Amino acid sequence: MGEPYIRPRKGSIEKPLRIAVLISGSGSGLLALLNHQQSNKSPHSTKLIISDNENAGGLRHGEDFAIPAVAIPLPDFADKSQQRKIHENLIHDMLIDSNIELVVLSGYMRILTSTFVSKWKGRLINIHPSLLPKYPGAHAHRDALADGAKITGCTVHLVDEGVDTGEIIAQEEVEILNGDTIEKLQERVKKIEHELYPKILDIFCSQNV
Ligand code: GAR
Repeated sequence: MGEPYIRPRKGSIEKPLRIAVLISGSGSGLLALLNHQQSNKSPHSTKLIISDNENAGGLRHGEDFAIPAVAIPLPDFADKSQQRKIHENLIHDMLIDSNIELVVLSGYMRILTSTFVSKWKGRLINIHPSLLPKYPGAHAHRDALADGAKITGCTVHLVDEGVDTGEIIAQEEVEILNGDTIEKLQERVKKIEHELYPKILDIFCSQNV
């Protein structure tokens, strides 16, 4: 669909890919990634953290790891499409200014426009808390429980112009247990995500295109 994927260069331990992580909330996935990068020889290194939410708890991880962490909230504009465009332009400019080579979405809860996606396609990766194509969107756990599913999980995928429709890179299953609530399920899925995402990023970043 749309533009082709253009992959980043091959990263190495000597010259890791420069990553920006985009978050909206608590940033537990970001923290797992930063811990992984700190304790392993990794072909990627986080150089920038951006949140669309000024109150995102995850921003504090920037301070702890001495990585620039900035909030770029939606600017005030009556025209919603203009507002999205300007917001994404601010993010794009910051990514360029920081020489970012790969954008990692980790709990970033805004849908990116096709204009932004086309600039980063192949260098824009996301983790989603379901086995895509099942339960796309912002309420994956709620939707899985409402559907009576017995298995859910998480998916690492490249971002394309659709909502959670891009090329799937990896998936891991999580069992849904009797008595599960959204919160309990989310917690178990996050545990798996925290292992899977850094591991898949290691492989993705060290691959020859
Ligand atoms: C994660 O479970 C991630 O998969 C999900 O948000 C959570 C972020 O948690 N992402 C989406 O639902 C994207 N549609 P965190 O802020 O604690 O890392």
